[in-house]
Amino acid sequence: MSTAFLILERVRLDLGIGSQNTFRSNEQESAVTYTIDVAGFHTLGPWRVRRVGYGAMQLSGDNVFGPPRDRDEALRVLRAAVDAGVDHIDTAQFYGPRVVNELIREALHPYPAGLAIVSKVGARRDTAGAVLRFDDADQLRYDIEQNLTTLGVDRLAAVNLRLMDDSVPGARFDAQLASLVRAREEGLIDGVGLSNISADHLLRALDQTGIVCVQNLFNLADQRSAAVLKLCIDRDIAFAPFFPLGQWRGLRSHPVLAATGGRLHATPAQIALSWLLDLAPNILLIPGTRTRTHLAENLASASVELDDAARADLAAAFPAGR
Ligand SMILES: NC(=O)c1ccc[n+]([C@@H]2O[C@H](COP(=O)([O-])OP(=O)(O)OC[C@H]3O[C@@H](n4cnc5c(N)ncnc54)[C@H](OP(=O)(O)O)[C@@H]3O)[C@@H](O)[C@H]2O)c1
Repeated sequence: MSTAFLILERVRLDLGIGSQNTFRSNEQESAVTYTIDVAGFHTLGPWRVRRVGYGAMQLSGDNVFGPPRDRDEALRVLRAAVDAGVDHIDTAQFYGPRVVNELIREALHPYPAGLAIVSKVGARRDTAGAVLRFDDADQLRYDIEQNLTTLGVDRLAAVNLRLMDDSVPGARFDAQLASLVRAREEGLIDGVGLSNISADHLLRALDQTGIVCVQNLFNLADQRSAAVLKLCIDRDIAFAPFFPLGQWRGLRSHPVLAATGGRLHATPAQIALSWLLDLAPNILLIPGTRTRTHLAENLASASVELDDAARADLAAAFPAGR
């Protein structure tokens, strides 16, 4: 499936006035409107969140290990995000480990009503920082409980089962999924999500239970998850691309992003993010940063409007399928 196809298939979500009261959202809690509201809202299972959120992984030390370089700024970034209307924060117990969850708790607890904290399970860190699998059914359950404790909550908006290998879906995947389903049935989480998955995983999971979100690597420079995104669009499942800014791949210094940004009065990072917002209404942004300067820039991507020339230039510079 090509990017052009996805763009043509772009659908604007009707915000469904009649059903709003069934969702948990800042939208009903507060009459305040935020600049990021212009990018709209999307469901996250029983939640309804703003499409521009925040990924907290960058707040820990280098290589997502240990304490932050600037702890006070990390706390200020989190508070600034929520003050700007962010109501969807992505995290994991293995970020740090514990460091990011503890920062979130210190900065934001007691949490404002309508703040959806989404975590992921499937990995742990050893004392040297190596990332190890922690994805047997009982380990996943233990990790969910650890997230609840560290974040200081009884329940999380959603937890993603983060697959740690490229294995095809089978009995092991089913057992992992069942562990999260049990946690949902017991009220520890509102929704089950999946991360780093194939379309086959998603289809198999959907045969067994509801899936509220998918979190796969996806950005202008890496669109290999386009088929998974398409499936999420078809089923109206939230899709939160990780590495939306391309992380280390040099996306932010690409000349076409600079040229497009120059023409539309936006930064390259904002073009990368607005491309995602423009692509499909179920895409939720969770860009990560350690600074309030970049946070403000990323949140302001909600107001950047791509035109047809920008879409065409980006499609030509970043062919789909890679
Ligand atoms: N499910 C998974 O397996 C998985 C994997 C990775 C990440 N995630 C989640 O996805 C979130 C997003 O991924 P990410 O944070 O790694 O990658 P990203 O959002 O693509 O990029 C983050 C990098 O971009 C820089 N940056 C941020 N805003 C910028 C701006 N406006 N201008 C220039 N540079 C900017 C950051 O540096 P500064 O700090 O200097 O701004 C950081 O180095 C994570 O925070 C995490 O919550 C999930």
